[in-house]
Amino acid sequence: MIDLHNHILPGIDDGSKSLATSLQMAEQALECGVTHIVCTPHIHQGYFDNTQDKIVEATKAFSQHLIAAGCQLKVASAAELRICPEIMSWYSNNTLPYIGMWQSKHVILLELPHSHVPAGTDNLIRWLLNNNVQPLIAHPERNRDILADYRKFEMLKRCGCIFQLTAGSVIGRFSAPIKTLSLKMLSEKSICVIASDSHGLERRPNDMGQCREFLQNEIDDQYVTTLVETNPTKITQTLSWM
Ligand SMILES: [Fe+2]
Repeated sequence: MIDLHNHILPGIDDGSKSLATSLQMAEQALECGVTHIVCTPHIHQGYFDNTQDKIVEATKAFSQHLIAAGCQLKVASAAELRICPEIMSWYSNNTLPYIGMWQSKHVILLELPHSHVPAGTDNLIRWLLNNNVQPLIAHPERNRDILADYRKFEMLKRCGCIFQLTAGSVIGRFSAPIKTLSLKMLSEKSICVIASDSHGLERRPNDMGQCREFLQNEIDDQYVTTLVETNPTKITQTLSWM
């Protein structure tokens, strides 16, 4: 499996705190069937002021440690972008950290606040799509506005977003309503990819193996493969794996 949302890089956001933890996370991912991880630290203005350059450098350094440790995991570099107006200037400066391509458009992993869908989100999405950038919305099932009113999700879908569901949501790591909503989104095939959004070894380990196993009794096998293999492979084929 390819995991395209993961906070495995050490000391760069609220994910892994140390290189030792990151190396253990890599082993844990391999054990659950993940062979490739896209490192997607937060870029969240005022909280995690990461840049594309900084993330690329950190990914290169981490890949050297993986090789030195004899770990087979492959990594590539992107980011989880918190929605903000600066995205438009990063687009113009050519510093948007793309996570790959989808139907000839560059893809960004776009995070909404957990509390709500901000006013103007639809305008930014349309602007991005008009500029050949495809928003892949991170974990819509955990957004409180969407949990309260499914029409907010349908609005994002109508605007042209594609969606990444978090593996832990499906197996009940967060709450029963989040699990129920995840299964609803999957039942109507509204989800493009499942990823781990792993942040560490204990509270947020890599759940992709467990999620895949669980889903095999819930939805059709082919769609499960599409979510964890086919679509992540399609999206990330332009990335440089290290
Ligand atoms: Fe994340």
